[in-house]
Amino acid sequence: MFMDGYCILDSAASSSDAYWLLLRVLALVPLWHYLLLAAFILFSFIYNFLELHFLQDLFSGFPGSPVALSYNASSQIYHGVVSNCKILHGKYFATPWLCSPHLQTLFVNYFGRPPSLKYTRQLFRTADGGTIALDWLSSSDVSGGAPHGDDVASEDESIPIVVIIPGLTSDSSSQYVKHLAYYTAKRGWKVVVFGGVSITSNFSYNAGWTEDVRTVINYLHKEKSKAPLFVVGTSIGANILVKYLGEDGENIPVAGAVAVCSPWDLLVRDRYIRRGRMQKLYDKALAFGLQDYAKLHQSHFSRNANWEGILKSFSVRDFDDHATRVVGKYESVDTYYRRCSSSIYVKSVAVPLLCISALDDPICTTEAIPWDECKANKNIVVATVKHGGHLAFFEGITASQLWWVRAVNEFLGVLHSGNYMHKQKKNSKSSIALDSSIDHGPYVNVTEDGTVAALNNGPTTDM
Ligand SMILES: *[C@@H]1O[C@H](CO)[C@@H](O)[C@H](O)[C@H]1NC(C)=O
Ligand SMILES: *[C@@H]1O[C@H](CO)[C@@H](O)[C@H](O)[C@H]1NC(C)=O
Ligand SMILES: *[C@@H]1O[C@H](CO)[C@@H](O)[C@H](O)[C@H]1NC(C)=O
Repeated sequence: MFMDGYCILDSAASSSDAYWLLLRVLALVPLWHYLLLAAFILFSFIYNFLELHFLQDLFSGFPGSPVALSYNASSQIYHGVVSNCKILHGKYFATPWLCSPHLQTLFVNYFGRPPSLKYTRQLFRTADGGTIALDWLSSSDVSGGAPHGDDVASEDESIPIVVIIPGLTSDSSSQYVKHLAYYTAKRGWKVVVFGGVSITSNFSYNAGWTEDVRTVINYLHKEKSKAPLFVVGTSIGANILVKYLGEDGENIPVAGAVAVCSPWDLLVRDRYIRRGRMQKLYDKALAFGLQDYAKLHQSHFSRNANWEGILKSFSVRDFDDHATRVVGKYESVDTYYRRCSSSIYVKSVAVPLLCISALDDPICTTEAIPWDECKANKNIVVATVKHGGHLAFFEGITASQLWWVRAVNEFLGVLHSGNYMHKQKKNSKSSIALDSSIDHGPYVNVTEDGTVAALNNGPTTDM
Protein backbone atom coordinates (compact mmCIF):
# COMPACT_ATOMS: atom_id res chain seq x y z
CA MET A 1 0.00 0.00 0.00
CA PHE A 2 2.80 2.35 0.91
CA MET A 3 4.40 1.70 -2.41
CA ASP A 4 1.08 2.50 -4.13
CA GLY A 5 0.92 5.83 -2.42
CA TYR A 6 4.50 6.54 -3.25
CA CYS A 7 3.81 5.79 -6.89
CA ILE A 8 0.81 8.08 -7.02
CA LEU A 9 2.77 10.96 -5.50
CA ASP A 10 5.60 10.25 -7.76
CA SER A 11 3.41 10.54 -10.84
CA ALA A 12 2.87 14.28 -10.16
CA ALA A 13 -0.59 13.88 -8.62
CA SER A 14 -2.26 16.95 -7.07
CA SER A 15 -1.74 17.63 -3.37
CA SER A 16 -5.41 16.87 -2.63
CA ASP A 17 -4.69 13.29 -3.67
CA ALA A 18 -1.96 13.18 -1.08
CA TYR A 19 -4.27 14.32 1.72
CA TRP A 20 -6.95 11.89 0.55
CA LEU A 21 -4.44 9.12 0.78
CA LEU A 22 -3.33 10.27 4.21
CA LEU A 23 -6.93 10.24 5.42
CA ARG A 24 -7.38 6.70 4.12
CA VAL A 25 -4.26 5.62 5.97
CA LEU A 26 -5.40 7.31 9.18
CA ALA A 27 -8.81 5.67 8.85
CA LEU A 28 -7.10 2.31 9.00
CA VAL A 29 -5.80 3.02 12.54
CA PRO A 30 -8.27 1.43 15.03
CA LEU A 31 -10.51 3.87 16.91
CA TRP A 32 -9.30 2.76 20.33
CA HIS A 33 -5.77 3.85 19.45
CA TYR A 34 -7.14 7.35 19.00
CA LEU A 35 -9.02 7.14 22.27
CA LEU A 36 -5.83 6.05 23.96
CA LEU A 37 -3.97 8.99 22.47
CA ALA A 38 -6.71 11.41 23.55
CA ALA A 39 -6.65 9.98 27.06
CA PHE A 40 -2.88 10.38 27.19
CA ILE A 41 -3.05 14.00 26.02
CA LEU A 42 -5.80 14.77 28.54
CA PHE A 43 -3.80 13.12 31.29
CA SER A 44 -0.65 15.09 30.46
CA PHE A 45 -2.67 18.28 30.35
CA ILE A 46 -4.22 17.68 33.77
CA TYR A 47 -0.92 16.43 35.17
CA ASN A 48 0.81 19.65 34.13
CA PHE A 49 -2.10 21.93 34.94
CA LEU A 50 -2.33 20.64 38.51
CA GLU A 51 1.47 20.51 38.76
CA LEU A 52 1.27 16.92 39.95
CA HIS A 53 4.52 15.33 41.01
CA PHE A 54 3.36 11.78 41.60
CA LEU A 55 5.34 10.14 38.77
CA GLN A 56 8.53 12.01 39.67
CA ASP A 57 8.05 10.86 43.28
CA LEU A 58 7.24 7.29 42.22
CA PHE A 59 10.24 6.88 39.94
CA SER A 60 12.58 8.34 42.52
CA GLY A 61 11.11 6.17 45.30
CA PHE A 62 9.20 8.86 47.23
CA PRO A 63 12.34 10.60 48.50
CA GLY A 64 10.52 13.45 50.31
CA SER A 65 11.53 17.11 50.24
CA PRO A 66 14.42 18.18 52.46
CA VAL A 67 13.95 21.43 54.37
CA ALA A 68 16.22 24.21 53.12
CA LEU A 69 17.27 26.63 55.87
CA SER A 70 18.50 30.13 55.17
CA TYR A 71 20.04 32.18 58.00
CA ASN A 72 22.89 34.47 58.94
CA ALA A 73 26.03 32.44 59.62
CA SER A 74 26.34 34.01 63.08
CA SER A 75 22.64 33.65 63.96
CA GLN A 76 22.20 32.53 67.56
CA ILE A 77 18.61 31.65 66.82
CA TYR A 78 19.86 29.12 64.30
CA HIS A 79 22.74 27.74 66.39
CA GLY A 80 20.88 27.80 69.69
CA VAL A 81 17.35 26.87 68.65
CA VAL A 82 16.73 25.75 65.08
CA SER A 83 19.78 23.45 65.04
CA ASN A 84 18.02 21.44 67.77
CA CYS A 85 14.80 21.07 65.78
CA LYS A 86 14.67 17.58 64.27
CA ILE A 87 11.71 18.29 62.02
CA LEU A 88 13.45 21.27 60.42
CA HIS A 89 16.45 19.05 59.72
CA GLY A 90 14.38 16.24 58.26
CA LYS A 91 12.25 15.86 55.19
CA TYR A 92 8.64 16.56 54.37
CA PHE A 93 6.84 13.58 52.81
CA ALA A 94 3.72 14.70 50.98
CA THR A 95 0.61 12.52 51.13
CA PRO A 96 0.95 10.52 47.86
CA TRP A 97 -2.58 11.24 46.66
CA LEU A 98 -2.12 14.96 47.34
CA CYS A 99 1.05 15.27 45.29
CA SER A 100 0.25 18.70 43.86
CA PRO A 101 0.28 22.19 45.36
CA HIS A 102 -3.26 22.72 44.10
CA LEU A 103 -4.65 19.49 45.50
CA GLN A 104 -2.96 20.29 48.81
CA THR A 105 -4.38 23.82 48.89
CA LEU A 106 -7.89 22.73 47.84
CA PHE A 107 -7.88 19.90 50.35
CA VAL A 108 -6.91 22.11 53.26
CA ASN A 109 -9.66 24.56 52.37
CA TYR A 110 -12.52 22.19 51.60
CA PHE A 111 -11.83 19.13 53.75
CA GLY A 112 -8.78 19.64 55.89
CA ARG A 113 -9.60 16.80 58.28
CA PRO A 114 -9.58 19.19 61.26
CA PRO A 115 -9.62 17.81 64.80
CA SER A 116 -12.88 18.64 66.56
CA LEU A 117 -12.61 21.27 69.26
CA LYS A 118 -14.58 24.01 70.92
CA TYR A 119 -13.18 27.42 71.72
CA THR A 120 -14.15 29.72 74.54
CA ARG A 121 -14.90 33.14 73.07
CA GLN A 122 -13.87 36.34 74.74
CA LEU A 123 -15.05 39.65 73.27
CA PHE A 124 -12.33 42.23 73.57
CA ARG A 125 -13.24 45.91 73.26
CA THR A 126 -10.67 48.28 71.81
CA ALA A 127 -10.32 51.92 72.82
CA ASP A 128 -11.81 53.12 69.51
CA GLY A 129 -14.99 51.16 70.16
CA GLY A 130 -14.11 48.15 68.04
CA THR A 131 -14.77 44.55 69.08
CA ILE A 132 -12.29 41.74 68.54
CA ALA A 133 -13.21 38.11 69.07
CA LEU A 134 -10.53 36.16 70.96
CA ASP A 135 -11.09 32.41 70.79
CA TRP A 136 -9.32 30.53 73.57
CA LEU A 137 -8.32 26.90 73.69
CA SER A 138 -6.40 25.21 76.50
CA SER A 139 -5.16 21.72 77.18
CA SER A 140 -8.23 20.82 79.23
CA ASP A 141 -10.40 21.56 76.15
CA VAL A 142 -8.65 18.98 74.02
CA SER A 143 -7.87 16.24 76.51
CA GLY A 144 -11.50 15.59 77.45
CA GLY A 145 -11.16 17.28 80.82
CA ALA A 146 -13.38 19.94 82.33
CA PRO A 147 -14.04 22.82 79.95
CA HIS A 148 -11.83 25.82 80.36
CA GLY A 149 -13.69 28.62 82.10
CA ASP A 150 -12.94 32.24 82.73
CA ASP A 151 -11.47 31.39 86.10
CA VAL A 152 -7.79 31.30 85.31
CA ALA A 153 -6.55 32.24 88.77
CA SER A 154 -5.86 28.66 89.78
CA GLU A 155 -3.90 27.85 86.65
CA ASP A 156 -0.16 27.94 86.30
CA GLU A 157 0.66 31.52 85.39
CA SER A 158 3.76 30.60 83.44
CA ILE A 159 2.06 28.40 80.83
CA PRO A 160 3.02 29.86 77.43
CA ILE A 161 0.33 31.47 75.32
CA VAL A 162 0.35 31.10 71.55
CA VAL A 163 -1.50 33.85 69.69
CA ILE A 164 -2.64 32.80 66.21
CA ILE A 165 -3.23 35.46 63.54
CA PRO A 166 -5.13 33.75 60.71
CA GLY A 167 -5.03 34.71 57.05
CA LEU A 168 -7.39 36.34 54.58
CA THR A 169 -11.03 35.43 55.26
CA SER A 170 -9.88 32.79 57.77
CA ASP A 171 -10.79 32.64 61.43
CA SER A 172 -10.72 30.20 64.31
CA SER A 173 -13.08 27.85 62.45
CA SER A 174 -10.70 27.44 59.49
CA GLN A 175 -9.40 23.92 59.13
CA TYR A 176 -5.71 24.73 59.31
CA VAL A 177 -6.22 27.01 62.32
CA LYS A 178 -7.96 24.16 64.12
CA HIS A 179 -5.01 21.86 63.38
CA LEU A 180 -2.57 24.38 64.85
CA ALA A 181 -4.77 25.29 67.83
CA TYR A 182 -5.50 21.65 68.68
CA TYR A 183 -1.93 20.36 68.61
CA THR A 184 -0.60 23.41 70.46
CA ALA A 185 -3.20 23.03 73.22
CA LYS A 186 -2.57 19.28 73.29
CA ARG A 187 1.01 19.87 74.46
CA GLY A 188 -0.29 21.82 77.45
CA TRP A 189 -0.04 25.38 76.18
CA LYS A 190 -2.80 27.97 75.87
CA VAL A 191 -3.95 29.13 72.46
CA VAL A 192 -5.82 32.26 71.54
CA VAL A 193 -6.99 32.79 67.99
CA PHE A 194 -7.10 36.41 67.04
CA GLY A 195 -10.55 36.99 65.59
CA GLY A 196 -8.94 39.13 62.95
CA VAL A 197 -10.78 42.32 62.29
CA SER A 198 -12.29 44.52 64.86
CA ILE A 199 -15.78 44.51 63.50
CA THR A 200 -16.66 48.09 64.30
CA SER A 201 -13.33 49.65 63.42
CA ASN A 202 -12.77 51.41 60.12
CA PHE A 203 -9.58 49.56 59.49
CA SER A 204 -10.98 46.12 59.07
CA TYR A 205 -9.35 44.03 56.47
CA ASN A 206 -6.11 45.77 55.88
CA ALA A 207 -3.05 43.57 55.38
CA GLY A 208 -0.90 46.11 57.19
CA TRP A 209 -3.19 47.05 60.07
CA THR A 210 -1.11 46.07 63.08
CA GLU A 211 -2.79 48.22 65.70
CA ASP A 212 -5.37 45.61 66.76
CA VAL A 213 -2.70 42.93 67.12
CA ARG A 214 -0.53 45.28 69.16
CA THR A 215 -3.44 46.19 71.44
CA VAL A 216 -4.38 42.56 72.06
CA ILE A 217 -0.81 41.43 72.66
CA ASN A 218 -0.17 44.29 75.09
CA TYR A 219 -3.40 43.38 76.88
CA LEU A 220 -2.43 39.69 77.12
CA HIS A 221 1.00 40.65 78.40
CA LYS A 222 -0.52 42.90 81.04
CA GLU A 223 -3.01 40.26 82.17
CA LYS A 224 -0.56 37.34 82.17
CA SER A 225 2.84 38.91 82.57
CA LYS A 226 4.51 35.65 83.62
CA ALA A 227 3.37 33.72 80.55
CA PRO A 228 5.76 33.76 77.56
CA LEU A 229 3.86 35.04 74.52
CA PHE A 230 4.43 33.43 71.14
CA VAL A 231 2.73 34.57 67.96
CA VAL A 232 2.06 32.48 64.84
CA GLY A 233 0.80 34.29 61.75
CA THR A 234 -0.45 32.55 58.63
CA SER A 235 -0.69 34.00 55.13
CA ILE A 236 -1.87 37.65 55.40
CA GLY A 237 -1.72 37.10 59.17
CA ALA A 238 2.00 36.40 58.74
CA ASN A 239 2.37 39.67 56.87
CA ILE A 240 0.66 41.54 59.71
CA LEU A 241 2.83 39.71 62.24
CA VAL A 242 6.17 40.51 60.58
CA LYS A 243 5.15 44.12 60.00
CA TYR A 244 4.18 44.42 63.67
CA LEU A 245 7.46 42.85 64.82
CA GLY A 246 9.42 45.23 62.60
CA GLU A 247 7.47 48.30 63.68
CA ASP A 248 7.99 47.68 67.39
CA GLY A 249 11.55 46.31 67.30
CA GLU A 250 12.95 45.56 70.77
CA ASN A 251 10.01 47.13 72.58
CA ILE A 252 7.68 44.18 72.19
CA PRO A 253 6.40 41.62 74.72
CA VAL A 254 6.64 38.76 72.21
CA ALA A 255 9.04 35.92 73.13
CA GLY A 256 9.19 34.38 69.66
CA ALA A 257 7.20 34.12 66.46
CA VAL A 258 6.55 32.02 63.37
CA ALA A 259 5.37 33.33 60.00
CA VAL A 260 3.83 30.60 57.85
CA CYS A 261 3.31 31.07 54.10
CA SER A 262 3.64 34.84 54.27
CA PRO A 263 3.04 36.87 51.10
CA TRP A 264 5.96 39.16 52.15
CA ASP A 265 5.51 41.63 49.32
CA LEU A 266 1.91 42.39 48.40
CA LEU A 267 2.91 44.08 45.17
CA VAL A 268 4.79 41.00 43.95
CA ARG A 269 1.93 38.79 45.18
CA ASP A 270 -0.54 40.90 43.22
CA ARG A 271 1.46 40.66 39.99
CA TYR A 272 2.00 36.93 40.47
CA ILE A 273 -1.61 36.05 41.16
CA ARG A 274 -2.79 37.89 38.05
CA ARG A 275 -0.27 36.15 35.78
CA GLY A 276 -0.82 32.38 35.78
CA ARG A 277 -3.94 30.55 34.56
CA MET A 278 -4.33 28.63 37.79
CA GLN A 279 -3.51 31.72 39.88
CA LYS A 280 -6.38 33.63 38.26
CA LEU A 281 -8.76 30.98 39.56
CA TYR A 282 -7.40 31.45 43.09
CA ASP A 283 -7.71 35.19 42.63
CA LYS A 284 -11.42 34.83 41.81
CA ALA A 285 -12.01 32.43 44.69
CA LEU A 286 -10.30 34.81 47.13
CA ALA A 287 -12.30 37.75 45.76
CA PHE A 288 -15.55 35.87 46.35
CA GLY A 289 -14.40 35.06 49.88
CA LEU A 290 -13.74 38.75 50.45
CA GLN A 291 -17.16 39.67 49.07
CA ASP A 292 -18.80 37.25 51.49
CA TYR A 293 -16.79 38.83 54.25
CA ALA A 294 -17.83 42.31 53.11
CA LYS A 295 -21.48 41.24 53.09
CA LEU A 296 -21.16 40.31 56.75
CA HIS A 297 -20.11 43.87 57.43
CA GLN A 298 -22.24 45.54 54.80
CA SER A 299 -23.18 48.59 56.81
CA HIS A 300 -19.51 49.41 57.41
CA PHE A 301 -18.48 48.89 53.79
CA SER A 302 -21.44 50.66 52.23
CA ARG A 303 -20.74 53.64 54.46
CA ASN A 304 -16.97 53.81 54.08
CA ALA A 305 -16.21 52.19 50.72
CA ASN A 306 -17.55 51.76 47.21
CA TRP A 307 -20.24 49.12 47.73
CA GLU A 308 -21.21 48.85 44.03
CA GLY A 309 -17.58 48.23 43.17
CA ILE A 310 -17.21 45.59 45.88
CA LEU A 311 -20.12 43.63 44.42
CA LYS A 312 -18.47 43.73 40.99
CA SER A 313 -15.02 42.65 42.18
CA PHE A 314 -13.66 39.60 40.42
CA SER A 315 -10.15 39.78 41.79
CA VAL A 316 -8.45 40.63 45.06
CA ARG A 317 -7.07 43.72 43.39
CA ASP A 318 -10.57 44.91 42.42
CA PHE A 319 -11.73 44.37 45.98
CA ASP A 320 -8.74 46.22 47.39
CA ASP A 321 -9.36 49.04 44.92
CA HIS A 322 -13.00 49.47 45.92
CA ALA A 323 -12.76 48.63 49.60
CA THR A 324 -9.37 48.38 51.33
CA ARG A 325 -7.79 51.31 49.51
CA VAL A 326 -10.79 53.58 50.08
CA VAL A 327 -11.20 52.67 53.75
CA GLY A 328 -7.46 53.05 54.41
CA LYS A 329 -7.30 56.29 52.37
CA TYR A 330 -4.48 55.18 50.10
CA GLU A 331 -3.90 56.99 46.84
CA SER A 332 -3.74 53.81 44.80
CA VAL A 333 -3.89 50.06 45.29
CA ASP A 334 -0.18 49.81 44.63
CA THR A 335 0.50 52.41 47.33
CA TYR A 336 -1.48 50.27 49.72
CA TYR A 337 0.41 47.13 48.70
CA ARG A 338 3.78 48.85 48.95
CA ARG A 339 3.09 50.43 52.33
CA CYS A 340 1.66 47.31 53.92
CA SER A 341 4.20 44.75 52.72
CA SER A 342 6.08 43.20 55.61
CA SER A 343 9.28 42.73 53.58
CA ILE A 344 10.38 46.32 54.28
CA TYR A 345 10.14 45.70 58.06
CA VAL A 346 12.28 42.57 58.09
CA LYS A 347 15.47 44.25 59.20
CA SER A 348 13.95 45.65 62.41
CA VAL A 349 12.57 42.35 63.70
CA ALA A 350 14.14 41.82 67.13
CA VAL A 351 12.49 38.57 68.28
CA PRO A 352 13.36 35.01 67.20
CA LEU A 353 11.37 34.51 64.00
CA LEU A 354 10.98 31.31 62.00
CA CYS A 355 9.50 31.67 58.52
CA ILE A 356 8.08 28.61 56.75
CA SER A 357 7.06 28.50 53.09
CA ALA A 358 6.54 25.95 50.33
CA LEU A 359 8.37 26.71 47.13
CA ASP A 360 5.28 25.59 45.18
CA ASP A 361 2.87 27.82 47.11
CA PRO A 362 0.33 28.78 44.42
CA ILE A 363 -0.83 31.97 46.16
CA CYS A 364 2.07 33.47 48.09
CA THR A 365 4.86 33.10 45.56
CA THR A 366 8.45 32.49 46.62
CA GLU A 367 9.40 35.29 44.23
CA ALA A 368 8.48 37.62 47.08
CA ILE A 369 10.64 36.07 49.83
CA PRO A 370 13.20 38.72 50.91
CA TRP A 371 16.06 36.23 51.21
CA ASP A 372 18.88 38.74 51.62
CA GLU A 373 17.08 40.93 54.14
CA CYS A 374 16.21 37.88 56.22
CA LYS A 375 19.81 36.72 56.08
CA ALA A 376 21.04 40.09 57.24
CA ASN A 377 18.90 39.80 60.38
CA LYS A 378 20.32 37.32 62.90
CA ASN A 379 16.92 36.79 64.51
CA ILE A 380 15.37 35.26 61.41
CA VAL A 381 15.57 31.73 60.01
CA VAL A 382 13.78 30.96 56.74
CA ALA A 383 12.76 27.33 56.17
CA THR A 384 11.52 26.37 52.72
CA VAL A 385 10.27 23.06 51.38
CA LYS A 386 9.84 22.13 47.72
CA HIS A 387 6.24 20.98 48.09
CA GLY A 388 3.34 21.68 50.41
CA GLY A 389 1.06 24.22 48.72
CA HIS A 390 -0.46 27.13 50.62
CA LEU A 391 -0.80 26.38 54.37
CA ALA A 392 -1.28 22.68 53.62
CA PHE A 393 1.76 20.35 53.85
CA PHE A 394 -0.44 17.28 54.39
CA GLU A 395 1.50 14.22 55.40
CA GLY A 396 0.76 10.55 56.06
CA ILE A 397 -1.25 8.22 53.87
CA THR A 398 -4.52 9.39 55.46
CA ALA A 399 -3.58 13.10 55.27
CA SER A 400 -4.43 13.52 58.93
CA GLN A 401 -1.57 15.87 59.88
CA LEU A 402 -0.02 19.08 58.66
CA TRP A 403 3.75 19.07 58.60
CA TRP A 404 4.09 22.80 59.33
CA VAL A 405 2.00 22.48 62.49
CA ARG A 406 4.49 19.94 63.85
CA ALA A 407 7.43 22.12 62.77
CA VAL A 408 5.96 25.21 64.46
CA ASN A 409 5.30 23.37 67.71
CA GLU A 410 8.74 21.82 67.83
CA PHE A 411 10.40 25.18 67.17
CA LEU A 412 8.39 26.96 69.87
CA GLY A 413 9.05 24.12 72.31
CA VAL A 414 12.83 24.27 71.79
CA LEU A 415 12.77 28.07 71.94
CA HIS A 416 10.80 27.97 75.20
CA SER A 417 13.17 25.52 76.86
CA GLY A 418 16.31 27.51 76.04
CA ASN A 419 17.68 30.98 76.73
CA TYR A 420 16.85 32.66 73.47
CA MET A 421 13.35 33.97 74.11
CA HIS A 422 13.03 37.70 73.52
CA LYS A 423 12.56 39.99 76.49
CA GLN A 424 10.90 43.36 76.03
CA LYS A 425 13.26 46.32 76.15
CA LYS A 426 11.37 49.52 76.74
CA ASN A 427 14.19 51.97 76.04
CA SER A 428 14.25 51.83 72.26
CA LYS A 429 10.84 53.33 71.74
CA SER A 430 9.07 52.31 68.55
CA SER A 431 12.09 52.09 66.31
CA ILE A 432 10.54 51.96 62.89
CA ALA A 433 13.62 51.96 60.75
CA LEU A 434 12.09 53.08 57.49
CA ASP A 435 15.01 54.87 56.01
CA SER A 436 15.13 53.68 52.44
CA SER A 437 13.97 56.18 49.87
CA ILE A 438 10.99 54.11 48.79
CA ASP A 439 9.49 54.36 52.25
CA HIS A 440 9.69 58.10 52.17
CA GLY A 441 7.35 58.08 49.22
CA PRO A 442 5.70 61.40 48.51
CA TYR A 443 2.14 60.55 49.24
CA VAL A 444 1.81 58.82 52.58
CA ASN A 445 1.66 60.13 56.08
CA VAL A 446 2.50 57.80 58.96
CA THR A 447 1.25 59.13 62.27
CA GLU A 448 2.56 58.11 65.65
CA ASP A 449 -0.07 55.45 66.27
CA GLY A 450 0.83 53.66 63.05
CA THR A 451 -2.07 54.96 61.01
CA VAL A 452 -1.13 55.33 57.38
CA ALA A 453 -2.95 57.91 55.31
CA ALA A 454 -2.39 59.06 51.76
CA LEU A 455 -1.53 62.66 51.06
CA ASN A 456 -2.70 64.01 47.75
CA ASN A 457 -0.94 67.31 47.98
CA GLY A 458 2.54 65.91 48.44
CA PRO A 459 5.32 66.58 45.96
CA THR A 460 5.38 64.00 43.21
CA THR A 461 9.05 63.28 42.99
CA ASP A 462 9.94 60.03 41.28
CA MET A 463 9.78 56.88 43.39
C1 LIG B 1 -15.38 55.40 60.82
O1 LIG B 1 -15.65 56.24 59.73
C2 LIG B 1 -16.80 57.06 59.92
C3 LIG B 1 -17.03 57.83 58.63
O2 LIG B 1 -15.88 58.01 57.89
C4 LIG B 1 -16.56 57.95 61.12
O3 LIG B 1 -17.72 58.74 61.34
C5 LIG B 1 -16.31 57.09 62.34
O4 LIG B 1 -16.02 57.90 63.46
C6 LIG B 1 -15.15 56.14 62.09
N1 LIG B 1 -15.03 55.22 63.21
C7 LIG B 1 -13.87 54.93 63.78
C8 LIG B 1 -13.93 53.94 64.88
O5 LIG B 1 -12.81 55.44 63.44
C1 LIG C 1 25.11 38.54 59.18
O1 LIG C 1 25.02 39.45 60.23
C2 LIG C 1 26.14 40.35 60.31
C3 LIG C 1 26.00 41.19 61.56
O2 LIG C 1 24.68 41.43 61.89
C4 LIG C 1 26.17 41.20 59.05
O3 LIG C 1 27.27 42.09 59.09
C5 LIG C 1 26.30 40.29 57.85
O4 LIG C 1 26.26 41.04 56.64
C6 LIG C 1 25.17 39.27 57.84
N1 LIG C 1 25.37 38.32 56.78
C7 LIG C 1 24.62 38.29 55.67
C8 LIG C 1 24.92 37.22 54.70
O5 LIG C 1 23.74 39.11 55.47
C1 LIG D 1 0.33 63.87 58.94
O1 LIG D 1 -0.76 63.60 59.80
C2 LIG D 1 -0.69 64.34 61.03
C3 LIG D 1 -1.83 63.85 61.91
O2 LIG D 1 -2.97 63.58 61.17
C4 LIG D 1 -0.75 65.81 60.74
O3 LIG D 1 -0.69 66.55 61.93
C5 LIG D 1 0.38 66.19 59.83
O4 LIG D 1 0.30 67.58 59.46
C6 LIG D 1 0.39 65.34 58.57
N1 LIG D 1 1.56 65.60 57.76
C7 LIG D 1 1.49 66.12 56.54
C8 LIG D 1 2.81 66.26 55.83
O5 LIG D 1 0.43 66.39 56.00
